[in-house]
Amino acid sequence: MDFRLVRATENDLPFIMATERREGYEALVGRWDEARHREALVDDSHAYFVGIGDSVPIGFVILRDWASAERVTLVKRIAVVAPGQGQGRMMLAAAADRVFGETDAYRLCIGFFPDNHRARRTYEAVGFTAEGVSRGSAFFQGMHRDEMVMAQLRPEWEKRRFG
Ligand SMILES: CC(C)(COP(=O)(O)OP(=O)(O)OC[C@H]1O[C@@H](n2cnc3c(N)ncnc32)[C@H](O)[C@@H]1OP(=O)(O)O)[C@@H](O)C(=O)NCCC(=O)NCCS
Repeated sequence: MDFRLVRATENDLPFIMATERREGYEALVGRWDEARHREALVDDSHAYFVGIGDSVPIGFVILRDWASAERVTLVKRIAVVAPGQGQGRMMLAAAADRVFGETDAYRLCIGFFPDNHRARRTYEAVGFTAEGVSRGSAFFQGMHRDEMVMAQLRPEWEKRRFG
């Protein structure tokens, strides 16, 4: 598959919103309305990317604290249209390349619900290490939920990328 990770524009919002609303994703990933996405798309802290496989959008990644002074960036949300085909792994690896290649970030982290085993497996495959459970760190569908935190540091990315 010919794959590229490109910066999203407002034209990609219908795709992003449809993807985060896919059946089965409601317990896994947050959903924003259009106004919230539009706000984040143009603020300085979020960076939106869409994965393009063979000219078709296959998923998206939203990063928060892009190029922050603290040199810590968060994968705020990631989802693919067709899970379990290696596309999430490809997209997240490309996102890590963008973060470490284009900014001074030292740490890239990601939080997810501890029972999301597919996500954990994907993140491990891309070089993220589980650090522990962050208690009550997600306010999700009106409930305070724990999140597993995984992260990748710049030296780990360099080793994985360049050996
Ligand atoms: C999380 C997500 C982005 C991962 O992308 P993906 O394309 O599905 O992932 P990949 O196909 O690259 O890899 C999935 C891995 O999980 C494994 N896996 C699948 N289901 C699993 C399960 N129930 N338990 C454990 N591992 C599982 C697969 O075997 C594969 O690992 P392997 O290649 O070592 O065998 C995607 O599944 C997704 O969009 N999920 C819905 C939204 C979501 O959960 N987002 C993350 C919230 S933070």
